[in-house]
Amino acid sequence: MEAKIVLLPGDGIGPEVMAEGQRILVRVGEKFGHRFQFQTCPMGGCAIDSHGTPLPDETLDACRASDAILLAAVGGPKWDDPNAKTRPEVGLLKLRKELGLFANLRPIKPHEVLLDASPLKRHIVEGVDILFFRELTGDVYFGESGKKPHPSGEEAWNVMIYNTGEIERVVRLAAQAARGRKNKVTSVDKANVLEVSRLWRRTAARIMADEFPDVKYDVVLVDAMAMHLIARPRDFDVIVTANLFGDILTDEGSMLPGSLGLLPSASLGSSGPGLYEPIHGSAPDIAGKGLANPLATILAAAMLLRYSLKLETEAKAVEAAVESVLEQGFRTKDIAAGGPSISTGEMGAKVLAALA
Ligand code: IPM
Ligand code: MN
Repeated sequence: MEAKIVLLPGDGIGPEVMAEGQRILVRVGEKFGHRFQFQTCPMGGCAIDSHGTPLPDETLDACRASDAILLAAVGGPKWDDPNAKTRPEVGLLKLRKELGLFANLRPIKPHEVLLDASPLKRHIVEGVDILFFRELTGDVYFGESGKKPHPSGEEAWNVMIYNTGEIERVVRLAAQAARGRKNKVTSVDKANVLEVSRLWRRTAARIMADEFPDVKYDVVLVDAMAMHLIARPRDFDVIVTANLFGDILTDEGSMLPGSLGLLPSASLGSSGPGLYEPIHGSAPDIAGKGLANPLATILAAAMLLRYSLKLETEAKAVEAAVESVLEQGFRTKDIAAGGPSISTGEMGAKVLAALA
């Protein structure tokens, strides 16, 4: 097949881990006989520096015209000034919104050989296999916001808002995914307090009853979910929730496997290119030192092959290569538990070798 892939290396460790992700995709192309065309574009802090905006029009146009987008990481202290005109994160939010990427998939599946890297006990994390569906283009992230003077200083607000259609479409995707897994969906909300969550709960319940009567379904309040996620994570299969709750819960969930450096994510819309990224940030403290773990980006590339290019065999091959490298005992510093470690580039090379 032929595919146009846009690469957004971004900031901090972004370019280093992206280089490894791209090497893997190039090798997959050669090995399986696909023609992948790559285009690297500025986005995030580096784009603020070069273009004065975190998401230049040319970058957005290239993304729209692509089959899939691989993003590494954006942000850093250089662009953190609260009074700055714009921020790297604004570019990411705009990209999600403009491309209609309403569903963010975050799989949480600890690697068997790394179970002892988890801050949780082995018997709790063993066998965990969760797929989060975080709604990505609504909620307080995109609701009306503002600030004004207040007798005590200032006041500020962000409106938490969802409509029926936004809830329906993400619940549907989550339920469809559950059918290919353990056939269970858990919807997370705060319906004991929030009107918007009561709409979420009603809507989710209706979609599940009308369209997915065969899929097991339950509902958990978000504060309780924060507990259950570390107390009994094995009990969950697909979890679907709103943007803000999902942002927080998936960071919590990312600790189950022990390192952020291993977790990919996919952001999908109803059509058009998907956006794939590691869930870790730009880690400016270790940028340029060859210490970053490229595996999350490589696994994001595997998700890109699976969801946007429909290349399941190729996706599995990349995942198996990562698994095999971990089994052989190779570790970057973040997962080495103080033991010997290899560099970003060496780790990428090990995966390439395993892929061969
Ligand atoms: C994430 C990040 C983003 C978010 C930030 C960088 C805007 O934390 O992808 O989870 O809050 O969605
Ligand atoms: Mn986040």
